[in-house]
Amino acid sequence: MVEFFQWLEATGGSVAIRESILLYPIIESTHVLTLCLFFGFIALMDLRLVGIALRGVPVSQITSRIQPFGVAGFVIMVISGALLFYSSPMRAYGNIFFRVKLVLIALAGINALLFHKTIFKSVDDWNDALQPPPRARLAGLLSLVFWSGVVICGRMQAYKWFD
Ligand code: HEM
Repeated sequence: MVEFFQWLEATGGSVAIRESILLYPIIESTHVLTLCLFFGFIALMDLRLVGIALRGVPVSQITSRIQPFGVAGFVIMVISGALLFYSSPMRAYGNIFFRVKLVLIALAGINALLFHKTIFKSVDDWNDALQPPPRARLAGLLSLVFWSGVVICGRMQAYKWFD
């Protein structure tokens, strides 16, 4: 794995981003700005599921309106993140915060998948409920915890505490 990332770091594209004056800040800014779109919308959805925000607004209405923005934001986060990784793969690979962040992204994905494959299928039964059923509230809470962890780990990546 290390040999592959050392090879990747020596490729022309990686060097070009890493040593660029404008390209890296543009990619990094895209990663941070899209965070507002992605995390902002996801958090709004989760706070409805937990029963704190947008109480009384039908859950299915929130998901149908918010999800396209959330998915678009996630795709841009992954593309800009992959380019940031490509610019310094060895630095990211050796960073414990980056590794924890990827695990949390996977857990958040599994949580979202389970939510949509199980409790969300019966949303018509609790669509207008001020307090959604416990499994929906748990899914919302776990999503908030996992994505907050991703953001914190993302920020912590810049600090070389354990390198
Ligand atoms: C989809 C969810 C993601 C979120 C919410 C997220 C969030 C963040 C945040 C908040 C930062 C710190 C930005 C700063 O303050 O400068 C960051 C940095 C970073 N992210 Fe992500 N990220 C995500 C996905 C990814 C992915 C999929 C990758 C790579 C495969 C990635 C690679 C990076 C790298 C390398 C940095 C460090 C940039 C630096 O140190 O200059 N991110 N991310």
